[in-house]
Amino acid sequence: MKTTAKEKTASASTLKSRVIVEDANETDIVAVREIYAHHVRNGLASFEENAPSLEEMRARHAQASRQGLPYLVAKLGGRVVGYAHASPYRARSAYRFSIENSVYVRDGMAGTGIGGVLLDALLARCNNGPWRQMVAIIGDSGNKSSLALHRSRGFRLVGTLRAVGFKKGRWVDTVLMQRELGAGSTSLPGDAASEGGKSP
Ligand SMILES: CC(C)(COP(=O)(O)OP(=O)(O)OC[C@H]1O[C@@H](n2cnc3c(N)ncnc32)[C@H](O)[C@@H]1OP(=O)(O)O)[C@@H](O)C(=O)NCCC(=O)NCCS
Repeated sequence: MKTTAKEKTASASTLKSRVIVEDANETDIVAVREIYAHHVRNGLASFEENAPSLEEMRARHAQASRQGLPYLVAKLGGRVVGYAHASPYRARSAYRFSIENSVYVRDGMAGTGIGGVLLDALLARCNNGPWRQMVAIIGDSGNKSSLALHRSRGFRLVGTLRAVGFKKGRWVDTVLMQRELGAGSTSLPGDAASEGGKSP
């Protein structure tokens, strides 16, 4: 028997309510790597072409921790089904109040609300931090799920960089989307943080 759209929505909302989001620990990175490796090998969302090693993924996770940036996992019955994290938007010091986000859901589980739960949790954490802007750099202008996910969480379209990537034998665009965090640009950062070169 065919599943109706109504039944699909109902099962997605049941699944979503069972998802727990928590800070990733070192053990979780094994599953995080597995999830990311699939998307690196088979998709265009990431412009990496070779899946990073576990050691490299652990180093990235450790760096986020050192920088005070959230790195979250979504678990369903104890199994990691997706992850989301923030990283500096760009390295030069004047960019220090701007961060980039990444969200990846386990292969076969997309479209069930996990990405939304993860991005909501990431935004809640980042809104409470010192950062003022979040930028989504979306690989492939045909990435409907990611565009819809970000749009539904208040990101606005900034523009499309045409054919800046070449992966899987074709040119790939990146779409830039952005939303404010906390007070956005309506106020200046605190005294110490506003001094050039210091981290927030
Ligand atoms: C992009 C991704 C993280 C989204 O997560 P997801 O669990 O599939 O998304 P959700 O089911 O939570 O949907 C989020 C919103 O987008 C909408 N949406 C999701 N996929 C959609 C699609 N293909 N078309 C239209 N809308 C869609 C949903 O309706 C939902 O809106 P709502 O919360 O207002 O109801 C996930 O699909 C994924 O991992 N894709 C591959 C990697 C990737 O592209 N990552 C993003 C890197 S920038």
